[in-house]
Amino acid sequence: MKPEFEFDKNLKKYNTFSIAVSAKAFAIFKSEKELTNLLPAAKELNMPLLILGGGSNLLFTKDFEGVILKNEIKGTEILSEDNDTVLVKCGAGESWHEFVLFCVSKGWAGLENLSLIPGTVGASPIQNIGAYGAEVKNTIASVQTIEIESLLKKRFLTEDCAFGYRDSIFKKVVKGKYVITYVVFKLKKHAVINTSYGAIQEVLTEKNITAPTLRDVSNAVIQIRKSKLPNPAVMGNAGSFFKNPEIPEEQFNELKATHPDIPSFAGVKPGMVKVPAGWLIEQSGWKGKVVGHAGVHKMQALVLINYGGATGEDIIQLSLDVRKSVQELFGIELEPEVNII
Ligand code: FAD
Ligand code: EPU
Repeated sequence: MKPEFEFDKNLKKYNTFSIAVSAKAFAIFKSEKELTNLLPAAKELNMPLLILGGGSNLLFTKDFEGVILKNEIKGTEILSEDNDTVLVKCGAGESWHEFVLFCVSKGWAGLENLSLIPGTVGASPIQNIGAYGAEVKNTIASVQTIEIESLLKKRFLTEDCAFGYRDSIFKKVVKGKYVITYVVFKLKKHAVINTSYGAIQEVLTEKNITAPTLRDVSNAVIQIRKSKLPNPAVMGNAGSFFKNPEIPEEQFNELKATHPDIPSFAGVKPGMVKVPAGWLIEQSGWKGKVVGHAGVHKMQALVLINYGGATGEDIIQLSLDVRKSVQELFGIELEPEVNII
């Protein structure tokens, strides 16, 4: 049967920024077979193609004059297990947070610090999602895909993925060439609890938890995230709008001389220091500012908000103004984390 598209589809409920734009054509796939039926039909329409997950890491700046294929491949399957590890395969269209909670309930360790990140399992390798001292790359065994051009299956092992901070091969060399259909995770059966980041330990201490379980860590992360990050169902946003920049140690030491309280983390590259963009934006006076229908979140300056009725262009303009202030004050260029469409 020839696949059917919906035309001029309103995308407001398909992006967490809640930007009211439309897509020329739109269809949902729930299996690899449905996907391989849809891809040639999409090609016939001769328009740009976008694969959509939960829409929580993108910003539409205008109507999308192309075809959107929304991934809803579901299902979770244990591929193998022994006393120490479990290899679990998860459909790319599963909710990331639901999958994390499922693993926590089974006592499988590795994802608990990544609780409550919005979006789908299939998008998790794309920017190597990270939070509270963990990155998903440390749990991924392989990423299963379908190549858009050939419709052939291709498996990327972890070492093929070129994972970095908010980065992978899927954002660079092979961007737009593959659809991720399944992700295989290698999780530990004996929990190695990591409470070193931010306020996790504080929350556990407040609750008198001295020997935390995976669920305790997950609950602590959920509590901290809820206190800082806006719920997209209430306030349109896509999480951190910018990446945390890495600057040379020398530049950092100069800044430290004038701003002794500047927070920092070890950089990924030697001789580099990572500085929280949220701090730079707050120091630039933007935290909590509202401009028309858009603004900078009052609890976390790295998050730009659509207060209702903002356009993608409004958010872009705000981001440019924020970048300009940070550049003028600190000489640091901020780079967007969100995919601008
Ligand atoms: P989408 O936004 O739908 O897509 C993102 C990109 O991936 C697009 O380019 C899309 O074309 C592509 N894509 C999606 N699925 C596929 C697929 N199956 N195959 C090929 N390409 C695909 N991120 C973090 O890393 N850490 C955080 O702590 C964090 N916190 C957040 C908090 C909030 C409140 C919000 C709104 C976002 C947050 N994010 C965070 C960002 C976001 O949740 C993640 O990047 C998430 O992985 C995006 O998933 P998604 O399914 O919504 O992807
Ligand atoms: N900070 C400020 N002002 C702010 C925000 C932060 O001074 O308005 C300071 C904090 O005081 C702290 C430091 O910046 O010293 C780091 O803050 P936080 O722990 O909130 O993390 P972040 O660096 O702002 C990153 C990720 C988040 C992730 C958190 C927790 C990036 C771009 N962002 O934010 O990921 O949830 O760490 O691990 O790396 C996302 O990618 O969408 C996202 C939300």
